[in-house]
Amino acid sequence: MLNKKIVFSGVQPSGNLHIGNYLGAIAQWVEMQAKYNCIFCVVDYHAITIKQDPEVLKKKIIEVAKIYLASGIDPKKSIIFQQSDISAHTELTWILNCVARISDLNRMTQFKEKASINLDSLEAELNAMKNSEWMKSLVKQLSPIIRDRYEKEEDLIRKVYDRCISSIYNELEEYKNNQENVNVGLFDYPVLMAADILLYNTDAVPVGEDQAQHVELCRTLGRRFNSQFGEVFKIPEVVIRKEGARIMGLDDPAKKMSKSAESEYNFIGLTDKPEAAAKKIRKAVTDSGKEIKYDEKTKPAISNLLTIYSLLVGKSVKQLESKYKGKGYGDFKKDLAEMVKKFLTDFQARYKKISDKEVEKILENGAKKVKPIADETLERVKEKIGIN
Ligand code: TRP
Repeated sequence: MLNKKIVFSGVQPSGNLHIGNYLGAIAQWVEMQAKYNCIFCVVDYHAITIKQDPEVLKKKIIEVAKIYLASGIDPKKSIIFQQSDISAHTELTWILNCVARISDLNRMTQFKEKASINLDSLEAELNAMKNSEWMKSLVKQLSPIIRDRYEKEEDLIRKVYDRCISSIYNELEEYKNNQENVNVGLFDYPVLMAADILLYNTDAVPVGEDQAQHVELCRTLGRRFNSQFGEVFKIPEVVIRKEGARIMGLDDPAKKMSKSAESEYNFIGLTDKPEAAAKKIRKAVTDSGKEIKYDEKTKPAISNLLTIYSLLVGKSVKQLESKYKGKGYGDFKKDLAEMVKKFLTDFQARYKKISDKEVEKILENGAKKVKPIADETLERVKEKIGIN
């Protein structure tokens, strides 16, 4: 038990978990239980970086823990706990806030996506200006003393342009970060995630691809702390499951499956009615041609469905391709629809058997187990920075 490596991961109790979350992350955790000491967290403090209804949040916390259990996370083997039960998470976050730089966090693409207005079209507009007559006439008005320093007029135009544009950009950046729904917590979210991970001497962090950058930041902060104050933190590795890391939308295989997608035909929720879910599969978009073959470039939709099928039944894509040789999309989708229906029926039966009381007990026990580990790390950190 002691010499097994430590795995840490978490899911936010917000929105509806879908089959992509399950296949891309949680299913992988279930397998890891055999080899590692696993800690799985319900990260409620992360969830409140987006506005939540308190009553709903309360239910979602229990729901996520039940989803862990119904997926096969075994509380006898692994620890399941609720983030806010352990105050060391927020305390360490504060300390790490003083190690993290604004520039580190400004790089986080998830924050940019969540918080920002889309600047692409604006960028195109600004680029068009570079070639405009107006820009040229502006430059002509500059004193010859300046103009003569540039061999080519274009260079001067570029310079003037860059200056104007960067100041416009800075202003926009500010505007972007001041939007009403963007709170400081959303910006700081990756630091809290780093604290989660570093508190437990974590060796490996299995996450979906979209979280890789956050784990990388965690490594940076851990290393930076260690070099500034002395070794405390173990530097973890990110683990991304290659296949299934990105389950795409059923209505648009160019975009990741998302619980906040416009159309409900985009995703299959873990709590969807099995028959409704089967229908979503039957209605999923397909590619041109008719062969069941994995090719992300020319057949993104069928490739996505093959991935889902393969992960659900534990057969390789190759095996499935040969099983469906000579058959059409219709047959393939009909079978997959049945598989999804069966998976959800079984999953939900397990889910329903677990009572809220049971979950509360499991979370309470989990907190008891992790508290000494977290407190010890925090004590060492406090010692190093001179506040103990
Ligand atoms: N940010 C992760 C997500 O949204 C959840 C998370 C929070 C997490 N803390 C973590 C994942 C620590 C792994 C390790 O998916």
